[in-house]
Amino acid sequence: MRALFVAVFLVSRQLVVAVRPPPEVASRRSFTNLVKETDAWAARISSATENKTRCEEIVSELTAERAVPKKRLDIHTGVIFPHDTFNEKWRDPERKLRLTPLSFLATQNLGSLKLRFWTTLEPSHPLMEEIFGPILRIPALARSIQVSKFDMDREAAKAFPNQNNLSKALLDAYRSHVDPGSMSDLMRAVILNNYGGAWVDSDVLLIRDMAPIMAEDWAYFGKPDFVNGAVMSTSRPRSPFMQNYLLAVVGHGIPMFHERYYQFGPRILTALKKNAEEAHNTGFFHVLPPCFFDPHFQHTGRPPPAEIFFAEVASGSDIASKRPGSTSHAAFAYHWHNGWEFPIRPGSLADELEQIYRSLLSM
Ligand SMILES: *[C@@H]1O[C@H](CO)[C@@H](O)[C@H](O)[C@H]1NC(C)=O
Ligand SMILES: *[C@@H]1O[C@H](CO)[C@@H](O)[C@H](O)[C@H]1NC(C)=O
Repeated sequence: MRALFVAVFLVSRQLVVAVRPPPEVASRRSFTNLVKETDAWAARISSATENKTRCEEIVSELTAERAVPKKRLDIHTGVIFPHDTFNEKWRDPERKLRLTPLSFLATQNLGSLKLRFWTTLEPSHPLMEEIFGPILRIPALARSIQVSKFDMDREAAKAFPNQNNLSKALLDAYRSHVDPGSMSDLMRAVILNNYGGAWVDSDVLLIRDMAPIMAEDWAYFGKPDFVNGAVMSTSRPRSPFMQNYLLAVVGHGIPMFHERYYQFGPRILTALKKNAEEAHNTGFFHVLPPCFFDPHFQHTGRPPPAEIFFAEVASGSDIASKRPGSTSHAAFAYHWHNGWEFPIRPGSLADELEQIYRSLLSM
């Protein structure tokens, strides 16, 4: 029997009742049961504490269940290039931007998942060739990667098909922000709303098959009072989660934030979570614990220092815990948190993992 899913559109103060379609991933017992435990950790957003051992057990239990998407799903990622070039402060940008796609190819079931890389450049732009050339020259890998031009005019119209004023407000929010961080927050929200699937930032490596947690609505817990969208998923296009998110962007209900940085990302997610708690209607998205995607944060309470991934020589155990299929610290992904200004040092985590991916993929 299909479950009735009641969603309150908190943000627009309208009550919308949606019948949830059957899940797009077969065999959803584990996620449905286990997420009750992680929801309890996230219930008090200002002080969520999790049992770290149990958290890793939950990741392992989720992975143990064979979750097979019923149809092909997309994992999205991408980059905004404000000046049609790599940022001049970045070092080794093409190798760094290739790491997320390589980790995708080395860890996911390519029969059911595809990676879509969204960019403000044309897919034929020379920078795309620098990043993707080595992958796209191998037909078996090229099939699983799609580079797409991001066009907010088109996507905003698609997000609110019959409400031109909302589409226009979304477009205005995008155009009024010149910092790539906020533009990228808006890009991910509108892409997930329009196409469904999951999003991973370009400083996130995948470690395990994502199928067990896909086709569900979630973001993750970054730190107290901070819900992070660096890894985020939605159950389907135009889900209540993504519609509420976009309605918050265009200013219905949630006061606009004065802090520009994070305004359209973590601040909106955190406010959505708090509003949902106050209204006792927390069902429309989950906040997964940090051990799922940010193991360093989970172990130390801080994001990894920027230089750790690129500029320091990695230990064997560090490499072992992040390599594809690792079981040493159960996690779906590793968020390395920027560090674009550091060159990739031979023997660093980034360098070692790149070699592991290339060897697994016979590149
Ligand atoms: C944490 O989880 C482990 C594994 O499930 C369990 O054995 C332990 O008792 C838990 N610790 C606390 C403080 O709840
Ligand atoms: C858009 O128009 C509808 C009526 O067509 C109105 O209810 C809504 O408040 C408007 N939204 C904005 C952001 O102006």
